[in-house]
Amino acid sequence: MSRHMMADDDERTYVYADSALLRRIVGYLLAYKGTMAAVAILVIANIVVSLWAPFVLLEAIDVIFPTGDLQQLLFAAILYMGLKIAAWLTSYGQSYLTTLMGQRAVFKVRQNLFRHLQTLSQDFYDGSSSGRIISRLTNDIDRMSELLTGGLITTFAQFFIVFAVGAVILSVDTQLAMASLAVVPILAISTHVFRQRARAAYRNTRKTISSVTANLAESISGAKVTKSFARERESLTRFAELNQADYQSNVDAAKATSVFFPAIRTIGNLGVFLILLIGGLRLIGVIEGALTIGTLLFFIQMNQSFFRPILIITGFYNTVQSAFAGSERVFTILDTEPSIQDDPDAVDMPEIEGHVQFKDVTFSYIEGTNVLKEFNLEIQPGETVALVGDTGAGKTTVVSLLNRFYDIQEGSITIDGIDIRTVSQESLRSRIGLVLQQPFLFMGTVRENIIYGRPAATDEDVLEALEAIGARRLLESLGNGLDTQVGERGTRLSEGERQLVSFARALLANPKILILDEATSSIDIYTEHTIQRGMKALLQGRTSIVIAHRLSTIVNADKILVLENGRIVESGKHTELMAKKGKYYSLYEIQIRPRAKHASMQ
Ligand SMILES: Nc1ncnc2c1ncn2[C@@H]1O[C@H](COP(=O)(O)OP(=O)(O)OP(=O)(O)O)[C@@H](O)[C@H]1O
Ligand SMILES: [Mg+2]
Repeated sequence: MSRHMMADDDERTYVYADSALLRRIVGYLLAYKGTMAAVAILVIANIVVSLWAPFVLLEAIDVIFPTGDLQQLLFAAILYMGLKIAAWLTSYGQSYLTTLMGQRAVFKVRQNLFRHLQTLSQDFYDGSSSGRIISRLTNDIDRMSELLTGGLITTFAQFFIVFAVGAVILSVDTQLAMASLAVVPILAISTHVFRQRARAAYRNTRKTISSVTANLAESISGAKVTKSFARERESLTRFAELNQADYQSNVDAAKATSVFFPAIRTIGNLGVFLILLIGGLRLIGVIEGALTIGTLLFFIQMNQSFFRPILIITGFYNTVQSAFAGSERVFTILDTEPSIQDDPDAVDMPEIEGHVQFKDVTFSYIEGTNVLKEFNLEIQPGETVALVGDTGAGKTTVVSLLNRFYDIQEGSITIDGIDIRTVSQESLRSRIGLVLQQPFLFMGTVRENIIYGRPAATDEDVLEALEAIGARRLLESLGNGLDTQVGERGTRLSEGERQLVSFARALLANPKILILDEATSSIDIYTEHTIQRGMKALLQGRTSIVIAHRLSTIVNADKILVLENGRIVESGKHTELMAKKGKYYSLYEIQIRPRAKHASMQ
């Protein structure tokens, strides 16, 4: 495809050829062939009745007036009115249908975009801000929709009108027709110049509004931090800067484009000037060529009919430039390939025992800085392994890799001897339960969040799961039981409550392999106990990897692995490792024990 990447501060956008953009946008509309055909018929009908009317006028003035035939005059007047009404009806039908078709197309584009976003790999989300993505789904699609709803088809119709009018006037009087057509080359040149300036200006407005949205999204998520540091004023200043930039880019775009339309209109009057001049000289008899007053009036009216579509086309050109700038950004996402794709021969992961093995795994997020180096790890089915290590050691990375959120550069990861790259991502992840370091709840009720991984679960199942993790008391502390609204991201629950809900969610999904990225925060002693009990129930009978910060989890694990700089440096039971007085010992003395003490003091 003819496109290249536009380097940008933090936004990837491809630059496409206009023809490629147009073809693609038209492609969306071509899905509605029936409606398209109806519109085409209405457009042709509209052109016919619109062009007929001036002829009625011409005939009335030049033929009927001199004869004084009242009946014919009445007939001509009624016909004229009838044609005007028919023109209105056909144009109404045309614009209704095109809008309908366009709105359906917009719906489809947005749906496609969302679907595609879900297929994109984690690295895409790491590399872009949610606000900027939202801006593409909203602001940029809005610009694109101006083209899809109406504009595009109406404009195509205008081209036909221009050609039809051109042919009609040429057949009536070549000389006067040439006077009307004289402005076309001037228009073509000025449109070309305008195009380049306009596109650059509109591209800039797409970028600035995206920055505004990104900042807005971040400010809303971080409102608490802003308040707590009393940074509202700075935050407002930053927003004002971005808002100002957006304002300025729109003003610049207006400057680049608004000079254009009055200019076009003036050029159009040049046609009337030439018709009056040449036609008048011919009427008076200064130059050759007999002419009737009716024909002269006909041409003045036709000049308008010729020029109105040109005005619409050029006016639409403006919309096109802005819509293309938006479309490029929408298509860029659609054309971004997921960096992790299912193998063409990928099969579904079969039922598993839960034997996990990392063999000589080397991995880096950014080329050149390895997070894991020749990393080896083996977990037997049903075993609970505790992963400990300094912050940034690579613990979360290990579990992200097992979920295949990223692909490794060297080595292999297998489950029951099956390389995870040979099975579909969906089936792989459905076998693995993941409780994130920061549990994420979706807006909705506690129940909805718990049954997220198994939507068919009944209330009884939910209560059973809560019972199993020892969190029945949680329900009493919530105002509305399972119907309690958790708020966006679960902000209306306490951190401990959020964790319990995410445990229940994982338990209900009943995965063979469970990964728990323990939060570091210390919670009250009661909840701590509840969570400990909950964890025990969760881990029962599954292969589990627990990234552990709590002494209780670590001590209860079948095996402790100590991670340092992307390598396992020690492994064994708590007492063995303590006796060794190595890395684990110092980690325990400095991190784990103080935290355990702190928790029991609360
Ligand atoms: N998405 C990412 N892109 C680039 N680098 C990353 C990314 N995620 C993590 N890293 C880097 O990889 C290293 C390991 O991070 P990881 O999240 O695995 O640490 P961790 O052991 O889980 O730490 P913690 O105990 O603080 O959760 C860190 O140096 C981190 O900066
Ligand atoms: Mg982590």
